[in-house]
Amino acid sequence: MTGREYWNILIVDDEREIHQVTELVLDSLQYRGLPISCLHAFSADEARDILSTEPDIAVVLLDVVMESESAGLELAKWIREEAKMTALRIILRTGQPGQAPQMEVIRAYDINDYKEKTELTARKLTTVVISSLRSYEQVSEIEKNKADLEKIIRGTSQLFEVYTLNRLSKNILNQFNDLLRVHSDLSQRRFSGVSLEKNRKGIFVLGSVGDFEGGGKKEYPRDFTEEEQLIIEEVAAQKRSILRGRCIATYFVTHNEREGIMLLKGDGPLPAVNLDIITLFSVHVSVAFDSYQLNKEIRDTRQEILDKLWQVIETRLSFNRGHVRRVYHISNYIGFLLELPDRDSELLRYASSFHDIGLVGLSDEMLQKPFPLSPEDHRTFMRHTDIGHALLSTSARKALKVAADVALQHHESWDGTGYPGNLSGEEIHPLARIIRVADVIDFYGKNYPDEEWTEPALKAFLVKESGRMFDPAVIEQIIDHVDIIMKLRDEQPVTAFEDARV
Ligand SMILES: [Fe+2]
Ligand SMILES: [Fe+2]
Repeated sequence: MTGREYWNILIVDDEREIHQVTELVLDSLQYRGLPISCLHAFSADEARDILSTEPDIAVVLLDVVMESESAGLELAKWIREEAKMTALRIILRTGQPGQAPQMEVIRAYDINDYKEKTELTARKLTTVVISSLRSYEQVSEIEKNKADLEKIIRGTSQLFEVYTLNRLSKNILNQFNDLLRVHSDLSQRRFSGVSLEKNRKGIFVLGSVGDFEGGGKKEYPRDFTEEEQLIIEEVAAQKRSILRGRCIATYFVTHNEREGIMLLKGDGPLPAVNLDIITLFSVHVSVAFDSYQLNKEIRDTRQEILDKLWQVIETRLSFNRGHVRRVYHISNYIGFLLELPDRDSELLRYASSFHDIGLVGLSDEMLQKPFPLSPEDHRTFMRHTDIGHALLSTSARKALKVAADVALQHHESWDGTGYPGNLSGEEIHPLARIIRVADVIDFYGKNYPDEEWTEPALKAFLVKESGRMFDPAVIEQIIDHVDIIMKLRDEQPVTAFEDARV
């Protein structure tokens, strides 16, 4: 138990004299060096009010007969079943023992002790209160640990769905923060946190929350105080959790031997928290980092395979080389501006990589025709949407099913004038609406040299087509970031596979 100054004991009795005698006995009593503070209720209703506003009551000394013959027993039932105060210890005291048979009452109402008022001498009262405080302390500790563990377990699934290292670090720091807040004496603290990686070259920041985020990216050790550096280096050297002053830091090592340190700093001194729980949490963190690494490896490999696949397809194209790579980067940036959840961003990566896959079904002759195409050739070209859909839609994987929808719909327009289905508005898959914008931006000015490739011209074009070709909600989010979109497009290499073309 930490941060406590006294133990609250609630005396519930309709006889004023019982209150006075009890308080007199408990007045000089101490447990773990802390005094007793008595709260007084003269009826079960008054007791309910006090219990509702003061959550940290350790023991209730409860009279059975007050406003009714069973008022005390009903209060005991209310404490357990409605107020769900399970750690609080209830000692029943009665002047009429015949009214409440001991074992029956204790079982039915989860009462921790039962005494007749006549047996409660000063010594007996002291003994029963001390043993109740001890068991209250133990039960509270178990409940806190249980709440901590539940938090760790609940947080696990969130951590395994994260796709960026910075986001993973932030989520972990926020969970670490929540874990500390379970301790009621820390609930008012505001924490800032940073997670770091230690490798051969030194210590580096992975992610941060609160003050550590600052205006820009903080560098280690330049932007850290001496107090922070000391604790970080001590944790790194001793490979264990440390709590000191305003800081708590924990160490973790991943399966592939990556070492990490997390530091949380409160806005005031921290009382002792259970370092075993913090250490257990760090094990969970290392598993999350391992899972992230593994997933990243899988994602990077897949992306490289997609890129190579596209380069092979491009050897057959004469127009707009490097198009898919640019659409991939532009649409991912649009997804970022739209604040897509991680899961959707991942689907967008697949969908943008595959959006023009149907071009493989067109003849070489068709693919080598220069743009703009004749109306007849354009009708043939339009078939790449259906072909792409047919290729991908047989997959049972969700990502490929979405990619199939996007391959089919990425030339549909918001106003219903696109192809192949003349879909409009929200009939069009949300990711297809994003790729529609990226796709057209990439073609804009590339294959139509008459169009001016300048920021004002592109902005004017996007605004003009908002609500026509494009989803207005997408345009609204990107219109102030057209400069970055243009840069993204211009920076992508046309193709790394140029020489392989035959
Ligand atoms: Fe296309
Ligand atoms: Fe395209």
